[in-house]
Amino acid sequence: MTQPIYAAITGWGSCMPPAVLSNEDLSTFLDTSDEWIVTRTGMKERRISHVTATELATLAAKRALACADLDPADLDLIIYGGVSNEELCPNSASGVQISLGAANAASMDLNTACTSFCYGLAAATGMIRTGQVRNAVVIGTELISRYMDWDNRNVAVLFGDGSAAVVLEATENQEGMLASMLGCDAGARDTLRVRGFGCGYSGYGITLGDTFWDFDGQQIFKRAVMGMSRASKEVLAHSGLTADDISLVVPHQANLRIIESVAKYAQIPMDRVMLTVEKYGNMSAATVPVALVDALEEGRVEPNSWLLMPAFGGGLTYCSLLVKWGNRVTPLGHTNDQLPPCSESALTLVNQIRKNQDPHGRSKAGLLAPVFPEERLNRAYPVD
Ligand code: UT7
Repeated sequence: MTQPIYAAITGWGSCMPPAVLSNEDLSTFLDTSDEWIVTRTGMKERRISHVTATELATLAAKRALACADLDPADLDLIIYGGVSNEELCPNSASGVQISLGAANAASMDLNTACTSFCYGLAAATGMIRTGQVRNAVVIGTELISRYMDWDNRNVAVLFGDGSAAVVLEATENQEGMLASMLGCDAGARDTLRVRGFGCGYSGYGITLGDTFWDFDGQQIFKRAVMGMSRASKEVLAHSGLTADDISLVVPHQANLRIIESVAKYAQIPMDRVMLTVEKYGNMSAATVPVALVDALEEGRVEPNSWLLMPAFGGGLTYCSLLVKWGNRVTPLGHTNDQLPPCSESALTLVNQIRKNQDPHGRSKAGLLAPVFPEERLNRAYPVD
């Protein structure tokens, strides 16, 4: 009988843009305050990228490959998880592929909003375990600053840019993602919609990418806690583990209060929860992998320990992954590649984006007007 194949996480790397946007910076153009943002969300800072999403993703993937000591030419699969892709065709994964020189890889994008990395990790693990590929790079990257509605304080204070990646490789050791629960609370999909971002918005004199967010924060909050908690409970029960077996929770970081509620429900003390929300905010698909890389770099991942990764996002997708870490918690190698230096402050970068949004003063009006009756939105694009 052949040995079962598992998908070990053998490499990890992140790429964080250096420019830091503080709560005080946000209050220079929004009616908000450091006190409101900290008490309601736990966030103090977030990063704003001066480079493209592909550059962030490529460097994160290079660092992960060096960490695993895997030659890009030997890579079988690239999964690019995210919702802020620069283009839809060609896909973003192929942009990373060409920059890495991973000539023999298959490349796909995966968008389940903030859960995209976690769904990607589950998909790549499945492909390795069924023998379709021998290894994969899974990336979570977001450049939300470029399609943020910077006039809307309900959303503009919450998000940031960033990227991280992991390398998965086939192994006979029982490690890597060993169980997952993926779900989607689709009945609540209207609680988070980015109007103006997608081909369904063409043909109305709208500047594509100049957005208006439908965002029901309180509904999303409640459903996020429910979805992440339910998924975590199920994944633990399915694996015959209890909260005591989990040495570190690496959750999606949309709000400190959401994380505290999920930890309370799972009966896991907060000192076993990795937190990055204060310094990076919500980076959507990049959040979980960046937190994982930070946890490794801070020595918080023990060899052979159990990790739990609950996440949720637009859709409203949710999930929880159970990961058994392997023996190694240190990189095999490093790359010397760096991002080009950033000469602007984060506030200057944001003000440049704000200036370029809505150049004709008509886009927002178009998006706010009922150009999309509900039945049209649900058909994805309007057809007369
Ligand atoms: O990854 C998926 C992304 N989605 C999420 O993460 C959303 C999850 N939801 C949340 O994290 C929270 O619901 C928020 C942080 C978005 C909002 O916190 P909240 O405690 O639910 O506040 P709220 O929406 O009930 O608003 C309370 C007040 C309102 O004023 P009034 O009506 O009480 O006068 C808002 O207008 O706070 C006001 N407010 C703000 N004030 C200052 C809303 N945003 C801001 C702001 N600064 N940025």
